[in-house]
Amino acid sequence: MKRIALFGASGQTGQKFLTLALAKGYHVQALARDAAKIPQRSPQLTIVPGDVLDLNAVENTIRDTDLVVSLFGQVKGSPPDVQTRGTANIVKAMQHYGLRRIISLSGGGLPYAEDHPKLADKLIRGIMRLAVPQVLHDAQGHADVLRASGLDWQVVRGPRLTNEPARGQYRVGWVGVNASTSIGRADLANFILQQVESREFVHKMPFVSY
Ligand SMILES: NC(=O)c1ccc[n+]([C@@H]2O[C@H](COP(=O)([O-])OP(=O)(O)OC[C@H]3O[C@@H](n4cnc5c(N)ncnc54)[C@H](OP(=O)(O)O)[C@@H]3O)[C@@H](O)[C@H]2O)c1
Repeated sequence: MKRIALFGASGQTGQKFLTLALAKGYHVQALARDAAKIPQRSPQLTIVPGDVLDLNAVENTIRDTDLVVSLFGQVKGSPPDVQTRGTANIVKAMQHYGLRRIISLSGGGLPYAEDHPKLADKLIRGIMRLAVPQVLHDAQGHADVLRASGLDWQVVRGPRLTNEPARGQYRVGWVGVNASTSIGRADLANFILQQVESREFVHKMPFVSY
């Protein structure tokens, strides 16, 4: 079974992903600023205390693992470039330990070549540019770091995230192509977990929605 280095395990999507990954038998090393925010207990789970902006803590999370799943992002009080700098640390640690594969999470505000944004998508991107420009800038910065890394990266993108129960069905497309405006975190986590064993979207940015 692969060993996963997980970032953002205490987050809403990260929690759902961690539960699914442990149930499937994966070993997980999860970085957490506050271990108490991770209620799961399992012999398959190691919690590494620390911050993604601390290279030492990131290296401790990645050592002895096979791939990275990065679900962390901006929270209240984050520096505006936390995802860019955190991802740069992850890439550095992956290169140090010889890991190749990273799956990262972002949103539909991050453009990709296959997108054909509809009017509604353009409106959403326009509103985000006005309301949360630093989030878009940081998403782009983290994607630039991954593209320049030479690693087998993949960015999973979602629209508005909800906490509804898993439907077990969703679409995988691009922004404006085979897509809608929401996805439940449970279904999103399910898709991300499937990517651990799949190379279909290496160097791509699929958009997952209902
Ligand atoms: N919200 C949406 O509608 C939406 C839509 C599309 C895409 N997305 C993307 O999906 C991601 C996940 O969403 P979510 O709602 O599951 O996120 P969330 O609940 O806000 O979780 C964010 C995670 O990032 C961690 N984190 C933040 N700064 C950190 C740092 N310096 N060091 C270590 N960990 C750090 C948080 O840890 P702590 O618990 O320690 O704070 C938490 O585990 C977002 O960040 C965004 O990129 C979101």
